[in-house]
Amino acid sequence: MDNVFSSPHPLVAHKLTLLRDKNTDPKKFRELVREIAALLTYEATSDLVLYHIDVTTPLATTRGNTLSEKIGLVPILRAGLGMVEGVWNLMPSAEVWHIGLYRDENTLKPVAYYNKLPTEASVSVCLILDPMLATGGSAVATVDILKRWGVRKVKFIGILAAPQGIENLQAHHPDVPIHVAGIDETLNQRGYILPGLGDAGDRQFGTG
Ligand code: PRP
Ligand code: URA
Repeated sequence: MDNVFSSPHPLVAHKLTLLRDKNTDPKKFRELVREIAALLTYEATSDLVLYHIDVTTPLATTRGNTLSEKIGLVPILRAGLGMVEGVWNLMPSAEVWHIGLYRDENTLKPVAYYNKLPTEASVSVCLILDPMLATGGSAVATVDILKRWGVRKVKFIGILAAPQGIENLQAHHPDVPIHVAGIDETLNQRGYILPGLGDAGDRQFGTG
């Protein structure tokens, strides 16, 4: 699949297995979400653009690099919130823009309830953070919002994806790379990823 990256890293595979385990408690679950998000971001940002700057060490001046693109982190509420800290630690100058969507339990369609983007796009690269790409409806709606807002470069960073979600996101936005820790088999009748990890929001926040 073009533009779809499932991490080959052993640390990611190890942490994903702990995350799936139904006996993992919310504190450990949040820690794993944070760590996996950081590892995936490391892989997903290998093409960020740099420009050269001079840097003075205690001994000499040499050529260094600095990030030239302004980065926006876009967690989809609620479950995406848990991914922010791990990613933000890697790029503390990023801005964080929240988008609130929940899936209607019957239609599985995303319902928007919160969006506090400024009127003009103030970042040039957006990393969408959401652990689960199930039907793909929430991700497609979020990319729609970001593109309407004027962002040219968008990447999706998730933890688990179902084939249906990948197909949906690629059909609507083939330019958006998808970075995940794993790709599962399918969705159940309620739109949950199988074998999955359950409800990522409930498991982080101790609800449900
Ligand atoms: C989950 C998840 C995604 C969405 C994925 O959110 O965090 O946003 O479902 O499903 P989709 O690909 O079929 O759209 P949920 O609606 O459960 O809300 P929550 O994060 O507030 O629990
Ligand atoms: N949202 C979740 O939290 N889990 C799934 O498996 C699908 C959507």
